Amino acid sequence: MEPLDLVSPYLFRYKRRNFLVMNKLRAKELDDLQDFEIRSTDIFIITYPKSGTVWMQQILVQILGASQPDWLEDGTNRAHVLWLEGRFLGDPFKERPDPRTFNSHLPPDMLPHGVKDKQVKVVYVWRNPKDVLVSMYYFASSHALLETPESFDVFFQQFLDGDVIMGSWFDHLKDYCEAQDQLNIHFVQYENMLKDLRQEVVKLCAFLGADLTDEVIDHVVEKSTFRNMKTDPKANYKDIFETHYYTKPTMRKGIAGDWKNHFTVAQNEHFDKVFKEKMGNFPLTCTWEVKQ
Ligand code: A3P
Repeated sequence: MEPLDLVSPYLFRYKRRNFLVMNKLRAKELDDLQDFEIRSTDIFIITYPKSGTVWMQQILVQILGASQPDWLEDGTNRAHVLWLEGRFLGDPFKERPDPRTFNSHLPPDMLPHGVKDKQVKVVYVWRNPKDVLVSMYYFASSHALLETPESFDVFFQQFLDGDVIMGSWFDHLKDYCEAQDQLNIHFVQYENMLKDLRQEVVKLCAFLGADLTDEVIDHVVEKSTFRNMKTDPKANYKDIFETHYYTKPTMRKGIAGDWKNHFTVAQNEHFDKVFKEKMGNFPLTCTWEVKQ
C-alpha cells in the first residue's frame, strides 16, 4: 500500500483534496467510487464542508417527503440522504427506491462518472468562505476525528492554505463553476436561503421538477428554519453529536457575518487579498453579511 501523503496526523492528501486519516477510505476506495453505479433519478447535494449541507438535506427531504409521508416519518435525514464517501461503512445504496438522495463533498473530478454521464440532478450549496472558516474552526474544535486547532490564528492560515478537511475552499467552488456545463447543476447560495428561504425552495422545486402547492412549500420552509431544525432530532444530527464524534451541536449560529466577531482587521484585509488573487474571474458574488 502507498504511504499516505499526510497533511497532519489527521488528514491525508489525495488528488489535491484532504481526507480523514481515521476514516477507512483510502486512494483505492476513493477511485472505486467513480465506478459506483448511478441511476438517472439520483439526486446529489454537494458542498464544501460547513456550507449548509445539513440544511439542504432537510429541505430536500421535506420536498421529497411531501409525496411520501411514510418515508419521511421513517428515519433521520442522515439515513435518507446517504453520504457518498461514507459508503465504505456498508452498502445500503442498492436496495433504495428511487429517487436515491446523496450528499458529498467530493470535487467534480472525483464524483462517480454516472453523475455526469447520466446528467443526474446536483444541488451545489455554497457559502461565503469567511463564515465557512469560522464554522469549520468550531467544528474542528469539537470533532473527534479532526485536529483541534492550535488557535484561531493558526487555523485561519491553514484554511487559506487549503490544509483543512477537503482542501481549498477556493478550488472547490472554482472546480464546480468550471464543471457546470458538464453537470446538471443548480447553485444555491447559503446567504440567499437566509434572506428568502421560500424563494430558494421554489427555485429548487423547479429544478427538481417537484410540483408542490403553496401550502406545502410553506410547510417545507417552516420545517427548515434554523429554529425548528435545532430542535428536530431527525434534522440536526443529534444522534451523532451525542456520540463521541462531536462534542458540540453542529447547528451552531446559522447566520451570515459571524466572521466579523472573529477576524481582526489585519486578518480581514489579508483574506480579501487572497480571495482576490484566487478568485479573480469568479462569476458569482459573495454575500458577506445578512442583517437578521
Ligand atoms: P454555523 O457553524 O456558522 O452556525 P454543514 O451542514 O455543511 O456542516 O454546515 C453547517 C452550518 O450550517 C452551521 O453554521 C449551521 O449552523 C448552519 N445551518 C444548518 N442549518 C441551518 C439553517 N436551517 N439555517 C441557517 N443555518 C443553518
